[in-house]
Amino acid sequence: MCGIVGYVGPGSSLEVLMGGLRRLEYRGYDSAGVAVLDDDGELGVRKRAGKLAVLAGELESDGIRDGHTGIGHTRWATHGGPTDGNAHPHLGDDGRLALIHNGIIENFAELKAELADETFTSETDTEIAALLVGRLYRETGDLTEALRRAVARLEGAFTILAMHRDDPGVVVGARRNSPLVIGLGEGENFLGSDVAAFVAYTKRAMEIGQDQIVTIRPDSVEVTDFAGNPVTPTQFEIAWDASAAEKGGWPSFMKKEVSEEPAAVANTLRGRIHDGRVTLPELDAIAEILDGVTRIIVIACGTAAYAGMLGRYAIEAWSRIPIDVELSHEFRYRDPVLDEHTLVVSVSQSGETMDTLRAVQYAREKGARTLAICNTQGATIPRESDAVLYIHAGPEVAVASTKAFVAQVTALYLLGLDLAARRGTLSPERIAELIVELQNVPDKLDDVLDAASSRIAEFTRWLAETQSVIFLGRHVGYPVALEGALKLKEIAYIHAEGFAAGELKHGPIALIEPGQLVIVLVPSPRNDDSLHPKVVSNIQEIRARGARVIAIAEVGDVAVVPFADEVIRIPFAGPFFEPILGVVPLHIFAMEMASAKGLDVDQPRNLAKSVTVE
Ligand code: M6R
Repeated sequence: MCGIVGYVGPGSSLEVLMGGLRRLEYRGYDSAGVAVLDDDGELGVRKRAGKLAVLAGELESDGIRDGHTGIGHTRWATHGGPTDGNAHPHLGDDGRLALIHNGIIENFAELKAELADETFTSETDTEIAALLVGRLYRETGDLTEALRRAVARLEGAFTILAMHRDDPGVVVGARRNSPLVIGLGEGENFLGSDVAAFVAYTKRAMEIGQDQIVTIRPDSVEVTDFAGNPVTPTQFEIAWDASAAEKGGWPSFMKKEVSEEPAAVANTLRGRIHDGRVTLPELDAIAEILDGVTRIIVIACGTAAYAGMLGRYAIEAWSRIPIDVELSHEFRYRDPVLDEHTLVVSVSQSGETMDTLRAVQYAREKGARTLAICNTQGATIPRESDAVLYIHAGPEVAVASTKAFVAQVTALYLLGLDLAARRGTLSPERIAELIVELQNVPDKLDDVLDAASSRIAEFTRWLAETQSVIFLGRHVGYPVALEGALKLKEIAYIHAEGFAAGELKHGPIALIEPGQLVIVLVPSPRNDDSLHPKVVSNIQEIRARGARVIAIAEVGDVAVVPFADEVIRIPFAGPFFEPILGVVPLHIFAMEMASAKGLDVDQPRNLAKSVTVE
């Protein structure tokens, strides 16, 4: 939540900041602002409620002077509504310091009382930090020291960037439980919530650890901990190009990212399969626990949690290790039983979801070992885990997670096959067969995209007025039903619920009345003939009560035809691989429904891509 960018160097601050904010806008888009120090030492600040385009328009018609030191912010409101006044940057009381913030300052009421003699111009917690750092700068004359003393007073989660009129060519940053990375240029340096902020200028980046402070100048970067001790941060190369975070001709990021689902699976597999075996050197750090693990707990939120649910079916079946899946924000409040034989696997596209980060930290404190499945290099969750499996899906910009979902499932399956090999619960021949099935998924996903895209676009036109949709699935179809419902709620603002089809008769069938739209994931008759007829019976039961049915069914499954208003075909795949194919029509369906209603599919209301508050 909230995107942050900072720049010092010979280039145009406004260009760097606005370009960075454009690529970070997925993190929050209810207001935006920039502060730039011009060559005459004047601090120009411009901030506006609304999407970044509003600020960009204003800067064009009535701009501020450009310069070589600047900070920029795109906001997802926590304290105070999305107004011009609450937008960042906020200023110190003498107007000489500008500050931006991502996170929540939990003790802000107490600090506000201490600063009662100040005049407050916003309802934000951030303004407290600006006033505090401004005062401390006057006392110390040193921006880094002022920030260090200020953060010692702050409780909660924060990334803060600050700059001062009297310190041209300097931006300082501090982070606790919120993301911040450094971009290393030639004679220029950058700070950003993630590497997307500066990947157009440099591919060299450095991680900033928990409770650290960074000072960037055009020719230097200094990092210390909150106590002032020097720290040597880890450097890394950004593995993708700036163009990967651009729409590249697609009408929306979501459409582009759905089209990348086959590549996301292929990229997760790349370099990890040799001679019919899975090789995951990333797991060496936890090899000991993997050999003796007695229980796995997957923690995640939203779509990542549904990927975790799919992972459970496969990992448990293949490795025979008991596995639970839990929402991160519930996990640590129920005093779970954890020990050194428990492996806690977090799944997070952003690697910054605060609920998941806290759950990982909690699991480590309780003695469990932790593995992160993550998409974003340099993110906090992998850094705070014992090992990480990156999914390499490339940047996901649309708020609705799509390609990351199929890649997360793929990574979980690789983990399951690795565990099965270690424990000998599957024969090498069976593992090799399953690997071939996994390797066939990208081509089959291409077929699904070819067949489903235009067909779904066609029939959603007559469904745009739909008020409620029910999604049904059994076994591995159940998490897919949940994912389909989440996507529809999230981007098309249509009430939707996913149910396990077997649960229907225990209550939800009462919702079925004439015209109710129900989307059913139909398992292949070739995979398990006990599930297929049961789901077909469920369809008959809801049809008998007037439901309109869209079935997602395997090519050649004729049993569903008499009972469905529409059938979307997917190629045959083994039982664990079928849901990776079946989810794609649901992603397309949600996207088309949102488009048919004229909604912004990339930036749905009230949401942000990366949820960095609890
Ligand atoms: O970055 P993460 O994978 O940790 O995010 C978890 C959820 O916030 C995320 O999947 C959310 O549910 C998506 N907007 C769903 O499309």
